[in-house]
Amino acid sequence: MIDLVKNLAAVNRRTKTSVIRELLKLTNKPEIISFAGGLPAPESFPAELFADIASDILKKNSMTVLQYGPTDGLPELKDQIIRLLREDEGLIIKPENILITTASQQALDLVGKTFIDAMDPILVELPSYIGGLQAFNAYGAKMIGVKDDDHGILVDDLEQKLARLRDEEEHYKFVYIVPDFQNPSGVTLSEERRRKVVKLAEMYNVLVIEDSPYRAVRFEGKAPHIMYKLGRSGNIISLFTFSKTLAPGLRLGFVVAHEAIIRRMSILKQSMDLCTSSLNQMIAAEFLSRGHYKGHVASLCKTYKVKKDAMLEALGRYMPEGVTWTKPEGGLFLWVRLPEGMNADELFYEAVKENVAYVIGSAFHCDGGGHNTMRLNFSYPSPEQIDEGIQRLAKVIKANLVKKGEKPKAAALTR
Ligand SMILES: Cc1ncc(COP(=O)(O)O)c(C=O)c1O
Repeated sequence: MIDLVKNLAAVNRRTKTSVIRELLKLTNKPEIISFAGGLPAPESFPAELFADIASDILKKNSMTVLQYGPTDGLPELKDQIIRLLREDEGLIIKPENILITTASQQALDLVGKTFIDAMDPILVELPSYIGGLQAFNAYGAKMIGVKDDDHGILVDDLEQKLARLRDEEEHYKFVYIVPDFQNPSGVTLSEERRRKVVKLAEMYNVLVIEDSPYRAVRFEGKAPHIMYKLGRSGNIISLFTFSKTLAPGLRLGFVVAHEAIIRRMSILKQSMDLCTSSLNQMIAAEFLSRGHYKGHVASLCKTYKVKKDAMLEALGRYMPEGVTWTKPEGGLFLWVRLPEGMNADELFYEAVKENVAYVIGSAFHCDGGGHNTMRLNFSYPSPEQIDEGIQRLAKVIKANLVKKGEKPKAAALTR
């Protein structure tokens, strides 16, 4: 065996195994009801349609779909994405504004590779998507946390931090935001704040990375504009994926940005995978062109709304006073805040003993905070499992309150 310590590259030494992965190992028992994963509901995958489409295109078009394709993506899929964005977002873009990626995680890595030099400051939400933090950390980014509330990133805090970085002549690179049904919190950035963030980005000459995998999974309410549409200076880079609407196993996503940025990212993608799977791109392109996409997403939203409502109802019914939670209008997650002083990291082991699991909120905080928070996933478990799981979780929280000498009261159902 070679001397790994001597031979490992800095990026590998910098990258630690995720806390979440370690904790999830404890939840691998069939009796556990897990709110910890981030998995779409497997019963929603359009497997039969995929099988028909794959069979057709392999018969008719094998020369293309089994071949290498262009690094920036197949024109057939780009055309469908252009149509989708025009119809759903009122956005007019050209093929040169799109880079097809091996899902959004690759896009995040590409963003890091394209823009970050070691010790460059970047601004991220508190809390923020852990996979984004890991991708940027690999390139040596210095994370600066910006506070969030139930309407997304706090614009005043963002401005203060940008101003400080500018005064200190720091080489700050971008603001990373998950604006729609955020992972982990389920919160959506309000229209007003989107406009302010875009304005600030222009004032401070900084990029905004709009990472929006859950955007199409909206069950209720009115969608604010995508930030890309609000920006005029080419400094918004938007990341989308088919992982949450079609299937994560396709590994298909796309970046929308100014063509000069797409060109730079495309050059770097060449050395990562040459191209994203041509077969999978054509399956998605056909799925869209045959008109299956919108109906499929609508039925997915229906299923998830039932599960989200089941979780909100169970939280209202079982949680003691002092525990609060977000009420997402879409996506896969909601966010629970325990009373100050209660520690969700410690409570995790108690929860696993009661056969229920969640993800600790502190894992999503680059500043070491968030110890009284947790992320709950509602897309994967059934409504019955949700009810039972929340009941178990509430029992653990109540027991912890009693240990601390407080008598738990029932929460108001209206919260
Ligand atoms: C905010 C966010 N960005 C990116 C990803 C990566 O998704 P994928 O690589 O499957 O497109 C996820 C996955 O959960 C996510 O929540």
